[in-house]
Amino acid sequence: MKPYPQLDNNALKNEFELVKSQYSTYADLHLSLDLTRGKPSSEQVNLSNSIMNCASDDGFIIDRIDVRNYGVLGGLPSIRALFADVLGVDASQIFIGGNASLQLMYDVISKAYTHGLLHSVQPWSKEKTIKFLCPCPGYDRHFNLSLSFGMELIPIDLTPEGPSIEQIEKHMSDPSVKGIWCVPKFSNPDGITYSKRTCEALASLQPAAPDFTIIWDNAYCIHSIYKDEPLPNMLSICQDYGCPDRVYMFMSTSKITYAGSGLALFATSENNLEYYKRLAAYQTIGYSKINEYMHLRFLKDKANLLAHMQKHAEILRPKFDAVLTALDKNISPLNIATWRRPNGGYFVSFYAMPHTASRIVELCRLVGLKLTPAGATYPYSNDPLDSNIRIAPSYPTLKEVEQAMDVLCICVRYAALEKMLESV
Ligand SMILES: Cc1ncc(COP(=O)(O)O)c(C=O)c1O
Repeated sequence: MKPYPQLDNNALKNEFELVKSQYSTYADLHLSLDLTRGKPSSEQVNLSNSIMNCASDDGFIIDRIDVRNYGVLGGLPSIRALFADVLGVDASQIFIGGNASLQLMYDVISKAYTHGLLHSVQPWSKEKTIKFLCPCPGYDRHFNLSLSFGMELIPIDLTPEGPSIEQIEKHMSDPSVKGIWCVPKFSNPDGITYSKRTCEALASLQPAAPDFTIIWDNAYCIHSIYKDEPLPNMLSICQDYGCPDRVYMFMSTSKITYAGSGLALFATSENNLEYYKRLAAYQTIGYSKINEYMHLRFLKDKANLLAHMQKHAEILRPKFDAVLTALDKNISPLNIATWRRPNGGYFVSFYAMPHTASRIVELCRLVGLKLTPAGATYPYSNDPLDSNIRIAPSYPTLKEVEQAMDVLCICVRYAALEKMLESV
């Protein structure tokens, strides 16, 4: 098949008739397929089932602490040491708390509003306007969390090296710009990893807000599928650049053990940690040490944890292969779309012909394939080109992913032809 832009009107019309008839065959199949949220599959969560055996009574004592009783806000020393090893920081910089990282991110922002952060002049709730920088395409829950506090969101282009520093710098003189959302490794959805240059540029920014904060959501820090991409240690870069309190680095075991029932943590400077802990001490006497204990028994050490992640990668790889193979075979020759080839993470980010993404999502929905709503990866759900679609192949079976990709490819062709014929 020739690239669509090279087809004359008659050829485009003939192709459209063909694609429409292929599309109509899907309507009769009553499909129920879903490529929306990036959830681990049952096969993946099964990898961690022996964690339950770790709850057996072998003393319940770790670090000379009885995990069944109150206390130890911030996590057991041994589990802090394990994640310090994973993130390349000091155990004294780690706070473990709660079941998932989004609630910890929410909590840091929430404390900024109620009490202010370490360098705040006043709580953010007392400020007239709070603005946050949002590299996009990005994670919709970050944007929605910000909106729930009434923040104003500023879109920043994401380049293959990370967010555009040029665009960020334009906002640094505005004291109401209080921070930036970053998914620095295998980003959601583009799968890009920030370069050292980008990390250093973020640390050398001169924001007008003294409490400008980088929310470093390292959700996919050890989640390679094809190849690892090393990420610079943002905490030590910030230290080196004289802004040690600028960053909070988050991660969780949602996509390591159990999604939403794992451990969440952040790493930050000792000063930030002490400040945060002082406030958190009013909130709880301590998080679940039973869960920390079970995770420690199960994960053991960094080497064992990385071996466990390889098992996840083996389950995910065929599904990512299926997505990329379908796009290479069915869409690549047509010259109507582009997509990224991630080395890890949970998504394939697809860029349809401009102004067709919403139509593709609608066409898919009508024949039983659910996709993340077009625009969801942008602040205010506003993708200016209506082009980006986030493909999440982790949860369905391989067969379902293959079937879903057949449907998606036909819908991509359908919407492109419809758009091209519109202007004839
Ligand atoms: C970038 C990013 N951060 C956070 C999360 C949610 O993590 P948790 O389950 O730890 O709240 C996700 C889940 O998809 C994500 O993609």
